[in-house]
Amino acid sequence: MAEQKNDLMDKIVSLSKRRGFIFPSSEIYGGFAAVYDFGPYGVELARAIREAWWKAMVSDHDNIVGLDSAIFVHPKVWEASGHVGGFSDPLAECKACHSRVRVDHLLEEAGVQADEKMTDDDINKLFSEHKDSIACPKCGKKSFTEAKSFNLLVQSNLGNFTGDWTVAPTYLRGETCQGIYINFKNVLDSSRVKVPFGVAQIGKAFRNEITARQFIFRKREFEQMEMQYFVRPEEASATYEEWRAKRWQYYLDLGIREENLRWHEHENLVFYAKAAWDIEYKFPFGFKELEGIHNRSDYDLTQHSKCSGVDLSYRDPQSGEKFTPWIIETSVGLDRTFLAVMTEAYTEEAVGENDIRIVLKLPKKLAPVQVAVFPLLKNKPELVARARELFSLLKEDFRVEFDDNGNVGKRYRRQDEIGTPYCVTVDFDTIGAGEDKSLEGTVTVRDRDTMKQERVKVKELQGYFERNLKR
Ligand code: GAP
Repeated sequence: MAEQKNDLMDKIVSLSKRRGFIFPSSEIYGGFAAVYDFGPYGVELARAIREAWWKAMVSDHDNIVGLDSAIFVHPKVWEASGHVGGFSDPLAECKACHSRVRVDHLLEEAGVQADEKMTDDDINKLFSEHKDSIACPKCGKKSFTEAKSFNLLVQSNLGNFTGDWTVAPTYLRGETCQGIYINFKNVLDSSRVKVPFGVAQIGKAFRNEITARQFIFRKREFEQMEMQYFVRPEEASATYEEWRAKRWQYYLDLGIREENLRWHEHENLVFYAKAAWDIEYKFPFGFKELEGIHNRSDYDLTQHSKCSGVDLSYRDPQSGEKFTPWIIETSVGLDRTFLAVMTEAYTEEAVGENDIRIVLKLPKKLAPVQVAVFPLLKNKPELVARARELFSLLKEDFRVEFDDNGNVGKRYRRQDEIGTPYCVTVDFDTIGAGEDKSLEGTVTVRDRDTMKQERVKVKELQGYFERNLKR
């Protein structure tokens, strides 16, 4: 079973490269660990995922607004948030080969349950109990140092023109939500929102992850889609449950099978958190965190009020009552969603005796190309012209690709691998030059999943796709 799963991971990595979804960064220079680039189809799929998230979190609500805060913030933000002091992973060094490994991963591989959100002290204690029986993944020796904390914030020298290393470093943001907290007052003063309301943001985050593994699951430069919902303290628990339900449904709507999702409750909460649950997805390497949903209490606004000296409390416009809102957070990685969607969609089907069709059964609304338009033959100008015309028409409303490479069979296979739900072929019947004149003005539409073909009138194509591509 494990072999089959790793096999699936290899297949997804290979397809991602071969078909232009994801490229390892800086490949011509030998690669750059835990950093990846989205290729031409990957960028379209990523955009569609962002859009689906934005629709579910912003457009479908009348009290959630968007924000796009900068990657750089005042260095004090990371002190106030607790990241400078406590945003770390436990690391141990192999005394024999000196490679450094994440202790929670060592424990996990040794079959010892370590919660990803455990405090460093807890992890260190657990590691001390087991370290003499754990082998180094590189050299196999069983001799590790004690675990030490390694801060995950990525430093920069932005604004340090003196080269003086004692100047407080600036950081690339480790999470996007801090940009929301520090703009709480700006949003409140400039828009019509009233508690309860939410602020949503999609953007890059950076972490000095120690172990680069599992493809795009754990990256050093990644993207988060986070929403912070500000509520009255007494409403926090009920609102938290509402968001848990909404986020679960969101993944079902994204085409994820329910059996591949599960809840994981954090037992060791950070001191300010009142509740923390993860939605886990069954990745090819097992169930792992996809999204975190947190009840963060009034910690963030209180901390930033204290450290900035600016009052971030809220006054109820009706009652005049003043309080510091509590925050319910939903936080998911775009990259992890991407990997979950790819894992869910990857399918191999036997065709005849000894052929296999690889098809990405992506939800139609997410497919990087929704409709591929082909001329039956590329050397017949009348067919090419008609297909180009159709391409121009359809691309106004859908993600469309014109494809005249190889024969139609090969084009179908390629489109199947990138997950294109529909292929449209313009043939001689379409232009009235075939045997069956009744087919003039119609095209063949081939369905990715059933491989069935049907004739559809060109003038009805737009409506046909509008109906079918919503899912
Ligand atoms: N603001 C809360 C926060 O950042 P987190 O659990 O550290 O919480 C939230 O991260 C989500 O961000 C995770 O559930 C995951 O989807 C994504 N994420 C975190 N680290 C990541 C990494 N190194 N690579 C890709 N995605 C990551």
